Amino acid sequence: MAAGEVGLQAIRYSRGRLQLLDQRKLPLETIYIDVYDSSGGWHAIQDMVVRGAPAIAIAAALSLAVEAVNLETKPTSLDEALHFLHTRLDHLVTSRPTAVNLLDAATKLKNKTSDAALRTSNAAEILVYVDAAEAMLAADIASNKAIGDYGADLISGQSKRDGKLSVLTHCNTGSLATAAYGTALGVIRSLNLQGKLNTVYCTETRPFNQGSRLTAYELVYEKIPAVLIADSAAAALQSSGKIDAVVVGADRIASNGDTANKIGTYNLALAAFHHGIPFYVAAPLTSIDTALSSGDSIVIEERSSKELTHSHAGHGPQVAASGISVWNPAFDITPAKLITAIITDKGIITKPEGSLVFDILGFLNAH
Ligand code: MRU
Repeated sequence: MAAGEVGLQAIRYSRGRLQLLDQRKLPLETIYIDVYDSSGGWHAIQDMVVRGAPAIAIAAALSLAVEAVNLETKPTSLDEALHFLHTRLDHLVTSRPTAVNLLDAATKLKNKTSDAALRTSNAAEILVYVDAAEAMLAADIASNKAIGDYGADLISGQSKRDGKLSVLTHCNTGSLATAAYGTALGVIRSLNLQGKLNTVYCTETRPFNQGSRLTAYELVYEKIPAVLIADSAAAALQSSGKIDAVVVGADRIASNGDTANKIGTYNLALAAFHHGIPFYVAAPLTSIDTALSSGDSIVIEERSSKELTHSHAGHGPQVAASGISVWNPAFDITPAKLITAIITDKGIITKPEGSLVFDILGFLNAH
């Protein structure tokens, strides 16, 4: 694979056909599942066939595009077409609650299809939707490359180390979590392409093991120098002096910068703060929820206790004592105070001088 190309594909799409790489089976098996409609899309997201905030949004939008293109009985009026699209978008949004990208995509697609100027016939209405959903796929790749370049420049510019840098990341934020390239992993990819990366350390990311199964797979596949660590080794690693920066993704960022991301992100941020290591969140603007002033009201998804009590993220043999109660939140909130900067597709968001929180609305107004 040539430098800069992205080989792994979570989402394979051509008009009328959607296939999702079954991420539950990685890294041992590479199996693509056909998704025929929005109900199939909903289940694929809920069951973690596809995961990662941007990939969830795109897979959902495209599952409805496939359904719309292949409809045997087409809507007979404009209103019927609109009703068909909007009720399914509303349902898709319920598949997983924490990442805001899907809600953002559904809102944009609803606005687009409600635009009276574009609505000329029921068939045109469907095409407006399909074109807009397909455009999201291309836009995500471009936005990830921008995040990668902004982030690599920021991290290498802010580092005091002479020579190549080592970074720590969490969960999977790469090609498998996006249309391609990745967000936090895109930053690491760009650092590597620029010849500035020494080593990336990836956490295993219990209990679903997105780090050991997916990120490690991507890093080996792309020959990026990488070391896997247990989640519980992260503070010790940060105290060792080996880590120049921590970079993670986001599922929802509130207006003050509080960030929901994979469970365990908060632990990494606390350790980074203690050791004076810069802690970066890398995410597209579509991960920002301007309706929330802080992270307090972000809904945190709780997943099945089986992910903890059984191996292989709930699909293998039982490993925990029978009868034990379980708390299994899929995400946590890292307070803005612990975040050094937010790397977006439109540039870097930093805190105003002397402030513990970000002025994200101010950044958005200026961009
Ligand atoms: O439960 P997951 O695997 O969907 O969680 C994924 C994460 O938390 C990622 O860090 C986040 O979605 C950003 S992906 C670019």
